[in-house]
Amino acid sequence: MPNPCKNYHIIRHETVGSTNDEARLLGEGGAACGTVVVAGEQTRGRGRRGHAWASPRGGLWMSLLVRVKEKKEKTEPGVAPLTIASGVAVAECLADIFSETGLDPARVRLGWPNDVLIEDKKIAGILCETCFSGPAKKPSIVVGIGVNINNRASLFPPPIRDTSISLIELTGVEYSLERALEKTLASLENTLEPLLLGEAERSGEILARWKERAALFGRDVRIQSPGTPPFTAVACDIDSAGRLLVKDAAGRRRAIEFDEASLIR
Ligand code: BTN
Repeated sequence: MPNPCKNYHIIRHETVGSTNDEARLLGEGGAACGTVVVAGEQTRGRGRRGHAWASPRGGLWMSLLVRVKEKKEKTEPGVAPLTIASGVAVAECLADIFSETGLDPARVRLGWPNDVLIEDKKIAGILCETCFSGPAKKPSIVVGIGVNINNRASLFPPPIRDTSISLIELTGVEYSLERALEKTLASLENTLEPLLLGEAERSGEILARWKERAALFGRDVRIQSPGTPPFTAVACDIDSAGRLLVKDAAGRRRAIEFDEASLIR
């Protein structure tokens, strides 16, 4: 069966509020799976948990609209598996760019759930959001990806200035944004395919690839859940449902789903 998102339709903007908002509007209007919105800069870039996402010129700011194949006998993937899988796709793409530019690809690691980190500094972030279209309110998912390529994280405002990094700050030379986009789309296509085709049995492969790059295991993380006090725990593993397993101070194992788990530095 062909991948429903194989034919990308790329819509480019010089400046936009947020590519996720544009992609969501297109999705609500019935745009096809594989619609991609790319912007030179965003004036209202959004991150997870309501944070702003600094998006000046030089970065890769893009959103991919994904419609999940309807297959009655298979389970449709929700936002959680796509969140994990998109992180793997972006991290592997960056690792490839690292090899190409003479950097060690093993430096590219994954935080929770899909921050792409270089020595604990964020080089890329992903925001997956659901939107609904048509009278049947069919769901689609917007996968919003931000990668610091030729922009300088050292010019970001504090505190993100101290916790972010960009490719140019590591290599000292510009990298083609067009090539970064092409490589990201190719990596997303390969990694998301099993999920889009409803091949849930292949999601174990993706989790294994996430684990290979995990930055958090054995380290203290701060867990922040809406409406409950934050606590500190040690990140141990990721389970088959893609939840982060942590051990709290009392030695209890807890599964973290959508909550924030950030590294304590
Ligand atoms: C995060 O780590 O908090 C997620 C950041 C996601 C940023 C990207 S940039 C392209 C897309 N448009 C947005 O407004 N956000 C995402």
